[in-house]
Amino acid sequence: MFTRIDHIGIAVRSLEEAVATLARTGGVVVGARESVPANQVEAIMVAAGDAPIEFIQPTSPESTVATFLEKRGEGLHHVAYRVDDIDAALAACVAQGFRAIDAKPRHGYAGSRVAFLHPKGFNGVLTELVERPAGKDVPPYELEHS
Ligand code: CO
Repeated sequence: MFTRIDHIGIAVRSLEEAVATLARTGGVVVGARESVPANQVEAIMVAAGDAPIEFIQPTSPESTVATFLEKRGEGLHHVAYRVDDIDAALAACVAQGFRAIDAKPRHGYAGSRVAFLHPKGFNGVLTELVERPAGKDVPPYELEHS
């Protein structure tokens, strides 16, 4: 059901600084900055080859990412898996006993639909399911070279 790693999410205090730092390594592709109101974050996808990193920065102190930064500082926030049908995948995970944070999928980065699952079921790692829009396969599809 999980078809590939869609991206790795990293919580940061400053998107600009995080992207600029990674860009200094050379060869990465930087995506558009996008607001994801459902999660109270702004995000930028940065890809090395076809493996994207999603930097996320909270836009409100009430964001769960703001709480994460306060408690743990910057760092790995979640691992996201690609699924073809998020409604079916979420229902199947719940049927298997995984605890869903989102009862229903919500809107994510770049027209995706996403849902989060509790870290307890995944060795302590917050886990995201991602369904990409039809015909748009790999997240860097709309990225421009930096
Ligand atoms: Co994500």
